[in-house]
Amino acid sequence: MARDFSTVGVVGLGTMGAGIVEVFARNGIDVVAVEISEPALERGRATLAGSTDRAVAKGKLAAADRDALHERVHFAVGLDALHSVDLVIEAVPEHLDLKQRIFAELDRVCRPETILATNTSSLSVTEISVATSRPNQVIGIHFFNPAPVMKLVEVVRTVVTSPEVVADVEALCARLGKVDVTINDRAGFIANALLFGYLNHAVGMFEAHYATREDIDAAMKLGCGLPMGPLALMDLIGLDTAYEILDTMYRRGGRDRRHAPVPLLKQMVTAGLLGRKSGRGFYTYERSGSPVVVPDEATPLATEAAVADGARAITKVGVVGSGTMATGIIEVFAKAGYEVVSVTRGMEKSAKVCEAVKTSLNKGVVRGKLTEADRDAALGRISWSATLDHLADVDLVVEAVVEELSVKKALFASLDEICKPGVVLATTTSSLPVIDVAMATHRPADVVGLHFFNPAPVMPLVEVVRTIRTSPEATATARAVCAALGKTGVVCGDRSGFIVNALLFPYLNDAVKMLEASYSTADDIDHAMKLGCGYPMGPFELLDVVGLDVSLAIQRELYLELREPGFAPAPLLEHLVTAGYLGRKTRRGFRDHSHR
Ligand SMILES: NC(=O)c1ccc[n+]([C@@H]2O[C@H](COP(=O)([O-])OP(=O)(O)OC[C@H]3O[C@@H](n4cnc5c(N)ncnc54)[C@H](O)[C@@H]3O)[C@@H](O)[C@H]2O)c1
Repeated sequence: MARDFSTVGVVGLGTMGAGIVEVFARNGIDVVAVEISEPALERGRATLAGSTDRAVAKGKLAAADRDALHERVHFAVGLDALHSVDLVIEAVPEHLDLKQRIFAELDRVCRPETILATNTSSLSVTEISVATSRPNQVIGIHFFNPAPVMKLVEVVRTVVTSPEVVADVEALCARLGKVDVTINDRAGFIANALLFGYLNHAVGMFEAHYATREDIDAAMKLGCGLPMGPLALMDLIGLDTAYEILDTMYRRGGRDRRHAPVPLLKQMVTAGLLGRKSGRGFYTYERSGSPVVVPDEATPLATEAAVADGARAITKVGVVGSGTMATGIIEVFAKAGYEVVSVTRGMEKSAKVCEAVKTSLNKGVVRGKLTEADRDAALGRISWSATLDHLADVDLVVEAVVEELSVKKALFASLDEICKPGVVLATTTSSLPVIDVAMATHRPADVVGLHFFNPAPVMPLVEVVRTIRTSPEATATARAVCAALGKTGVVCGDRSGFIVNALLFPYLNDAVKMLEASYSTADDIDHAMKLGCGYPMGPFELLDVVGLDVSLAIQRELYLELREPGFAPAPLLEHLVTAGYLGRKTRRGFRDHSHR
């Protein structure tokens, strides 16, 4: 029969500890909550009170239940208060020597049968366990931040953890309403091993002024549907904690350079910029511990101000191409009130694109998103042509032809001859250097990338790519156009993958490598990212949707341009592509979709 946990101890009431106390107390379990000093204890108590008050205010917790919850928590300074608990979870800062000292002390204080658990994110549970005389009763119980909200718990067993202890802890997780994945002791377990390389990379982009903090975060939220951008997430995790996790993962996880903390992180930690908990990290918060971001000197000006920054007036837009992206982009511009000239390579293609745009607009009418009059007006704004000469008087051209550099360069050379001066020339390329296309013209200052996401009418994000020759006016124009389309334009440099793909695909590739190493299953890895990090899809679900061939091609580009050894495509991904398992489109990828 599973062990009954009626009283648990929590050591350290910081970002994680306070949340873990709440999880237990909410589920009717008595908690002894321990800190190192009276002031720290007070902070922990205040964090718990703040969180439960917010839950009451949001109607997620009855006031009476809140009071009962608080009655279950007994606060104390020092580990001696833990003499009769059934389980202890340690959540002190991420330092091995500190954790080892605490475990040695817990071993002395607690009853012999008490299970000792660590909430470490990256340290070796095994190394922590050997500080006690009961390593078989030591286990990792890794909660996610914020602990009361995130459903996932990673249960980490070492080679000596007893199977009964694992089973008891799994049963406890179920009682707490959590979903657990049980895994072996490896740096970063599942979720952090996949998350922290990405977070560090995002900090590197910010440090290199590749894009602003707002743009990096907006890109990942709007481009991938993530609940938070990476820099906002670093602030939530705490930069000191994140630094220690990266540092440990670097040392334990095979010295992968991608885990070597970006120098800026160390500087921020030293300067006391720890994120939300200190009131300032990548963003500035109302006060310490507050989730409310307030403007600071780095907050960008409102869009109108940016428009005053030299953005040119755009009324007529040319769209070149006849594929999925061109079709979507024509629709987006026409719906937003622009006059659109569509240019394809023949009237037959034009007729097809016209049909596709009509079908899509009609769907909008059926779904009640568009009136018939709006549909007709949008269609009325589009003219269909098979010759570039009709682009002589447009203000902006968006190119969305095949992803081949020679074709795009030839097209831009023609546009250079045909278009009037001052026109902004945009390419939707997702993988080619924009500067190559720009240099096919005599006006590289007017050339930008406008990287729409598929399906263009739905996806709210556009990456505005500026090359080293792009003028500030052309960038401002592109950004203003995105805003007029009702989309968020994020500005970034001209590097492989821009923001979204550069941050997304290495993470997907790492998930494949994790699967290949048999550390976990595709199901558990997908679970971990969805329930631990709030991702809308797990990496294997997403790879099957995007297409394994497309993913492999993007990953190869990133690897070739950045020469980062950690970006080398996972052999398993290559093999699946070779075998013709490309994802949903071939009914088989990481999963078999033939019956769905
Ligand atoms: N922050 C996250 O998002 C996150 C997520 C999952 C796991 N973790 C892990 O949880 C652990 C705690 O991280 P955190 O972010 O909550 O850190 P934190 O700095 O917010 O809190 C640590 C707390 O431990 C207390 N403490 C220090 N020494 C102590 C001692 N000797 N006895 C009792 N209390 C002591 C400190 O006063 C502080 O309140 C780390 O191992 C971390 O890796 C963190």
